Amino acid sequence: MDDVNEVIAQVMRTGVSAQKEVEIRALAEYLWERKPATIVECGVQYAGTTMILRAACPDAQIVGVERDISPNLQAVAQGTGFTLYRGDSHDIRTREDVLRLLDVERIDFCFIDADHSFEAVLADWVIWSPVCAAVGFHDIRPHTGGNPALTPLGSHLVWEAVKALARGRVLEFIDDSPGSDDTMGIGVIELV
Ligand SMILES: C[S@@+](CC[C@H](N)C(=O)[O-])C[C@H]1O[C@@H](n2cnc3c(N)ncnc32)[C@H](O)[C@@H]1O
Repeated sequence: MDDVNEVIAQVMRTGVSAQKEVEIRALAEYLWERKPATIVECGVQYAGTTMILRAACPDAQIVGVERDISPNLQAVAQGTGFTLYRGDSHDIRTREDVLRLLDVERIDFCFIDADHSFEAVLADWVIWSPVCAAVGFHDIRPHTGGNPALTPLGSHLVWEAVKALARGRVLEFIDDSPGSDDTMGIGVIELV
């Protein structure tokens, strides 16, 4: 994990990941051990997390689904070694195209981190979970992204429902160290 920790430190220094360091490290360690051959990340943004996924799973095929792809993001994808797919993660055609790109019927790990509204996260779960061995969610704790005037993001509601209803092993990576706020959190469900 030394190389992975180096990438995590660099990503955190440059602020290009929307994750908490403790939580993304726990996810990286989990994936490092599990060695998924195929990974899909819904919502790439600046690709900080994708760089960490690449470091943790050097042999995996990784596809990032993102609706807004800048030339800079394209360059980062080329440099990091993952494929960007421009499209809507909620669209069934996106899923079918990504499966074709990966040349598989089932994806080993999908990380849902695109639009965080309840409807959008639910749609991502409905679209991707039937073809995934494990699904990760970001923002499994109720929070508003730091602005108490806003309605809390919807991811935690979907996560609570998935945890209650889906069969499979559930993992939660949460930074609850002293001084840490009560936002974010990463959840993973291994589907049977
Ligand atoms: C929270 S950011 C992703 C952060 C990234 N996963 C990370 O950990 O650094 C959400 C991203 O999802 C993208 N997005 C939002 N809705 C989407 C959709 N329906 N399909 C594809 N991408 C979407 C946004 O453009 C944005 O870049």
